[in-house]
Amino acid sequence: MADWNKRYQETDQRLFGENPNEYVREVMARSDTGIKSALMIADGDGRNGAWLAAQGIDVTAVDISNIATEQAREHDKKLGVTVARITADLETWTPDPDQTFDAAFMIYLQCENNVRRRAAGIAAAALNEHGWFAAEGFATGDDGSGELGPGKADLLYDPESLLSALPDFRIVEALSGQIFLDEGVKHRGTGWVFRLLARKP
Ligand SMILES: C[S@@+](CC[C@H](N)C(=O)[O-])C[C@H]1O[C@@H](n2cnc3c(N)ncnc32)[C@H](O)[C@@H]1O
Repeated sequence: MADWNKRYQETDQRLFGENPNEYVREVMARSDTGIKSALMIADGDGRNGAWLAAQGIDVTAVDISNIATEQAREHDKKLGVTVARITADLETWTPDPDQTFDAAFMIYLQCENNVRRRAAGIAAAALNEHGWFAAEGFATGDDGSGELGPGKADLLYDPESLLSALPDFRIVEALSGQIFLDEGVKHRGTGWVFRLLARKP
């Protein structure tokens, strides 16, 4: 497993920028979601969870890095928002069985495919009826033109594998292609990504 603590520690800049991910904003801009609570899977130093909380969403966020979680808490404080932040490994973590969510966001969860698939499965199980699952990440299928990405196949989102963790879900959109990212020091350039929005029955 990559040493995420080291990555978050080695710069005083926010690794993925101040602003929320564009796809998170796109999903939230839809008029049909009615999302009031969200689970942020691997929220890192907190840009997406904090932004959702600022929109009035009740946010629970989990990430393996205690350094990123600490940075995220500082960021929340600066913005005056409240996010329930948990440091845990998605290889083993499961949400409190009494807690359910209207949405789960899996934005650039860079880890082994089996862990990502498990994380999608537990998030799917924790969604309310008609809940939304949204994901974006560097993906398989790059035609060689993407500048960004982890450079190791197992760390890339595999659309088929991800979809297999959401068996009964209705696919609202599943998009693969190249986008330009401008998200902090780590995500600046072109990347081949998979974006998924799916809805629980
Ligand atoms: C590329 S960063 C993205 C962070 C955040 N989602 C964002 O877009 O700003 C990947 C994140 O996945 C987290 N991560 C990797 N493996 C994990 C695991 N097994 N359990 C929980 N978090 C993990 C890392 O700590 C890191 O914060």
